[in-house]
Amino acid sequence: MTGILSLSSVRLLETISNCRIQVHFDSDQIKIILYISRLNLSFVSLEAYINDNDYFKLHADLVFRPWLRRLHWTKKMLPILDIAPFLKDPFSLEGKEFSDSLAQTCHDPGFFFLKGHGIPRQENDELMAIAKQFFKLPEQERHAIAIVNSPHFRGYTVLGDERTQGKRDWRDQIDIGPEEPAITMGQDDPEWLRLRGPNQWPSSLPELRVAVFSWVRGIESVAMELFRALAVGLGQDYHFFDNKMSPDPYFRVKISRYPGQEMKPGVYQGLGLHHDSGLFTFIMQNQVGGLQAERGGVLQEVTPIPGAFIVNLGEMFQTATNGFLKATKHQVNSPPPGEERISIAYFMNPRLNAVFDPIPLPAKFAALAGGGQNPNPDDPIYSTFGENTLKIRKRAHPDVVAAHYPVRT
Ligand SMILES: [Fe+2]
Repeated sequence: MTGILSLSSVRLLETISNCRIQVHFDSDQIKIILYISRLNLSFVSLEAYINDNDYFKLHADLVFRPWLRRLHWTKKMLPILDIAPFLKDPFSLEGKEFSDSLAQTCHDPGFFFLKGHGIPRQENDELMAIAKQFFKLPEQERHAIAIVNSPHFRGYTVLGDERTQGKRDWRDQIDIGPEEPAITMGQDDPEWLRLRGPNQWPSSLPELRVAVFSWVRGIESVAMELFRALAVGLGQDYHFFDNKMSPDPYFRVKISRYPGQEMKPGVYQGLGLHHDSGLFTFIMQNQVGGLQAERGGVLQEVTPIPGAFIVNLGEMFQTATNGFLKATKHQVNSPPPGEERISIAYFMNPRLNAVFDPIPLPAKFAALAGGGQNPNPDDPIYSTFGENTLKIRKRAHPDVVAAHYPVRT
């Protein structure tokens, strides 16, 4: 039996399932957030837009036996792509099929799970375990490597100190990038060259540095093959995008913790709705949910799948394809009190001075490309990656800007 969640059933659901249900009224839709914490099992959240019957259906199992904790989505699950055939032989029939489906998936929904990547679960688990250790370090030690010390936007951000859409995000985090000396800036050098520089590491957790760079080596090679697969899927040569990365891609790793909090109006967001500035973002998270991807104007819960990375696209794809591909919007809702979400994101970025002008697309894709700029004129996409990513870093960290980026006259 499958049922459609409707307003009339909300109170009944609360009674039967012992769930806590919040209803939010927006201008054109009603959003229901359903919390299930029965029997002290892990938190599960669902969101329903009840004016979209196709979007949200629940199996009766969930409605009447919520302790099963299993969600049965009947529509609009995010796609799961298996890159293994492409890694085995990109020019085989199966490899080509992967490229084609990747291009289609990157167009819509632009958010997907990636499996078959070959990175051992153990490596992911090890990094996740060390990430948890980092957040258990004495506060003083984390504060000693505060991001405000770094003109390169590296280091620790205290809870609530990063902003998205001008509002504080309710998470703390460490930002890590390529390890290199800071550049001595010439008068005419572009400001974004200051993004290059050393990281800040916690002195009593040297394992963090080792684990991050070991993990990056593995994921970087998968990301590069994904990039090549997309080039092929977009009708280009296998090596078409290679020179955007070589010789010194500007990757970034962000390890974040989202503490639980009551979701009330006016309370800090976990992470506000935004899109990323670069190419692919790979997300690994613990089993506490909260990530939501925007699809067709609707936010959809991204329930973690063990062993698979969540992948979304950044702005450089949007500009390179004249909008055939979109920088997909996403956000994170805080978990409820007592829960904690940990996520580790790898941002696959090109070299800072890589320029992305629109590429020639096959006619069938070009017909679907409606322009590479963001609709908001206050949020332009710059074709040089360094300039584009500095735009977003500055917006997120006004304290770093105040300390290190004086207004140029
Ligand atoms: Fe993001």
